[in-house]
Parts: sequence; C-alpha cells; structure tokens
Amino acid sequence: MKILVLGGGGREHAIVKALARSVREPELFCAPGNPGIAAEASCLPDLDPTDTEAVVAVAREEGIDLVVIGPEAPLVAGVVDGLAAAGIRAFGPTEAAARLEGSKAFAKEAMAEAGVPTAGYRVVSAAEEARTELDGRSFPVVLKADGLAAGKGVLICFDREQADRAIELLFEEKRFGDTEVLIEDFLDGEELSLLAICDGERAIPLAPARDFKRIGDGDTGPNTGGMGSFSPVPGVGDETVQELSEKVHRPIVELMAARGTPFHGILYAGLMMTSDGPRVLEYNTRFGDPETQAVLPRLESDLVELFLEACEPGGLRDREVEFSDDWAVTVVLASAGYPESSSSGDVISGLEEAATGAEVVHAGTAAVDGEIVTAGGRVLNLTGLGPDVATARRRAYDAASVVEFDGKQMRNDIALAAVEEES
Ligand code: AMP
Ligand code: GLY
Repeated sequence: MKILVLGGGGREHAIVKALARSVREPELFCAPGNPGIAAEASCLPDLDPTDTEAVVAVAREEGIDLVVIGPEAPLVAGVVDGLAAAGIRAFGPTEAAARLEGSKAFAKEAMAEAGVPTAGYRVVSAAEEARTELDGRSFPVVLKADGLAAGKGVLICFDREQADRAIELLFEEKRFGDTEVLIEDFLDGEELSLLAICDGERAIPLAPARDFKRIGDGDTGPNTGGMGSFSPVPGVGDETVQELSEKVHRPIVELMAARGTPFHGILYAGLMMTSDGPRVLEYNTRFGDPETQAVLPRLESDLVELFLEACEPGGLRDREVEFSDDWAVTVVLASAGYPESSSSGDVISGLEEAATGAEVVHAGTAAVDGEIVTAGGRVLNLTGLGPDVATARRRAYDAASVVEFDGKQMRNDIALAAVEEES
C-alpha cells in the first residue's frame, strides 16, 4: 500500500512515524516533507500541497492508495474534493466540511444549530459597527478574524484601548485580509485539545492533550503555533473524554451528515474548561500541532486501518481507538525571533544523542551541505515517553538540552503543573 502525506512539519513527521508502525508496512511518500521525514518516507519537496491538480497528478503517477492531509490550507482549498473526483482515496474533510475551521462564523452557526456550548459572540463587518458593539461591554473581550490566520487572528483585549487597536489592525490595516470579525465573550479556565476521528457518521475520541500556546514560561508573551504539549491530561479520564466527545464532537458530525456534507477526518475541538462547564473555543479539521507529537506515540491501534475505515461512510463502526498507559511530553525548540519572525540556516547539533532518549521530530529544518540547519519558526520537537509524567518530562527536557543551535528558544515549564498535580 502506498500512502502520500501532505505537509512538512512536526505534525506530519509524527503522522509518518505512526503510519510506519502499521502491520501493513506501507510505502510512504510526503510532500514537501523535511529532512527528518526523509528517513522514513520518500519526500517530494517540489509538490505544493495546496495545488490540487499537481497533487492528483503525482498521486496517479505514483499509484497512491491513500492521501493523508496534514495542514488546514489544502483542506480549505478543496484538495480532498479534487482527489475524490479523480477516484483517489483521501483522509480529511471536503472543502464544505473544512469550513468548520476555515470560517469561525460558520463554526459558530453550526454550534448554535447543533447545541454545542461555546462563548457568546457577535459578527461585525466594519470598524464602526465593531466600536458600537464594544460600547458598554465589559472587558476582557476577544476579537477574532473570521478566516484562517495560523493561530494569530485571535486578539484578547483587556481594555477599550487594546480593543480599539485590535479594530484598527483587523479592519483598517487588514492584517488578516478582508474579513468579518467575531467579538466574543472572554472565557476563563484550563484549555484542553480533544480530537476525534470521524467517518461521516460518528466520532471516536482520541487521547486528550494540552497545548502551550504562548512563547514564554508561565503563559506569557505572544501566541505561537504551540510551544509544547502533553498527553494524557490529569483529571480527564476515559469517561470524561467520552462525555466531552458526546457534547462537542457527536452533535457536529451528525449535523454535517444531515446537511449532506458529512465530516470525514480529524475533528479537533479546542475547549475551555470553565467553571460553568466545557465550552468550544474553536474547531480545527485536522490534527493539532504539537498535540499530535504527544498523542500519536501513545497510539496502539493501527493508524493505517483507522484512516482507511474513516474514509468509508460509517466505516469506523464500533471501533475503539487504543492508547498505551504511557505519558508523552513534547517540547518545541524554536528559532531566534519566533513568533514575530524566524531564523534560517543555523546549524543544529546533538540530534543523534537526543534520539537515544526521546523521539526527535523535525518541523522547520533543512539539509544543507550535509548538515541539518534551522528553516522556520518551530524547528524541532522532542517527545519523551514514560510510565509517569515526571519521567516523560525529564526525557523530553534531557533531549531538548543536548540539541544546540544559535538562538534556540524553548519553554521550561511544559507539563510542569501536570507533574505537580500527579505527585
Ligand atoms: P482559537 O484560534 O479560536 O482557538 O484561539 C486561539 C487561542 O486564543 C485559544 O487557544 C485561547 O487560548 C484563546 N482564546 C480564544 N477564544 C477565547 C475566548 N473566548 N476566551 C478566552 N481565550 C480565548
Ligand atoms: N496546536 C494548535 C493547533 O494545531 O491549531
């Protein structure tokens, strides 16, 4: 069986590693891939994952049996629809179903119709309208660009001055293009990433994870794509996962089916666990990055089988997805300047030593003249596994400390609270 994975970051490296463990021994391809992925798959560095025609052509040429889409951009661009029209099986939602991630206003309407708990909101389409809406509001308040913004389109405003600045950024400077804006109630609590694999009819939850979004220790500084993660999450056992999934995945999957746009693929609910119960902050229609790097190493079920079943309407039937009792902690190493900018070409050392105690996952790396160098904001992910969270965390940080490159940044408190909670 030949499988093509689209994408080239840490999430895709983790997916490739998990696919490689399948009893089906698939022949793996990845576009564009990265130097870490190249150890396990044939990389196609010149194939643009959002170019449907090119993806279809390569899939035909190589005789690909299954295409797995990692990032959101190809989904929103309709790559799955193009592959389906060409008779090529693809794991991921169609363009219509991926609107759950592609438009926050669409997701909010779907949640209202399906009865999924979320923050109160208003959609505004011009600066003046936004200012009027903010008059008499209490703070903090959250402003969100409607479309895809790589995690950067969410502005949390603690007072009117910050909100006015956010309005300028969104409507006048058009930082995220021409977009409607959601003004949303601020929610307080701990966040939880709960992903489910969906076959168009039902959703089966995966192990829960926590993501660390801010660049700095103690959740300080600007938002990033994610600086670390761990799985499972203290206090969120199997029963809680099932209950949450019934509230936040099932109603949406049933709604999408009823609308004639069934959801196949990964439905990722970003949750805020408030004192009034769980609330959905957002849906993503793909694996999370870096949650996947902590969740998939714990997967005991065969990922190839899961993907194949999820592509068929109702194909997952009464499938249970099995995870080991191990803990996994993932630490992200980022390059100088991240998240405002990134640094390329810094030589990386210590990768072999790091791999003796942890999983080394490549994100933004490149191979130049026989050396591995930085090539992006988030550069590497080190995942430690262990029978308890303290051991997993120590293994991740031991590996993170032996990898060196100029300007290396990492958080020092990934899973620290979980260790304290468990002991
Ligand atoms: P989103 O892309 O909507 O998940 O937002 C990115 C991050 O912004 C979330 O992970 C939260 O940390 C934060 N956030 C989003 N919406 C809210 C909200 N209504 N209240 C508080 N924090 C929020
Ligand atoms: N870790 C957040 C995301 O993948 O969107």
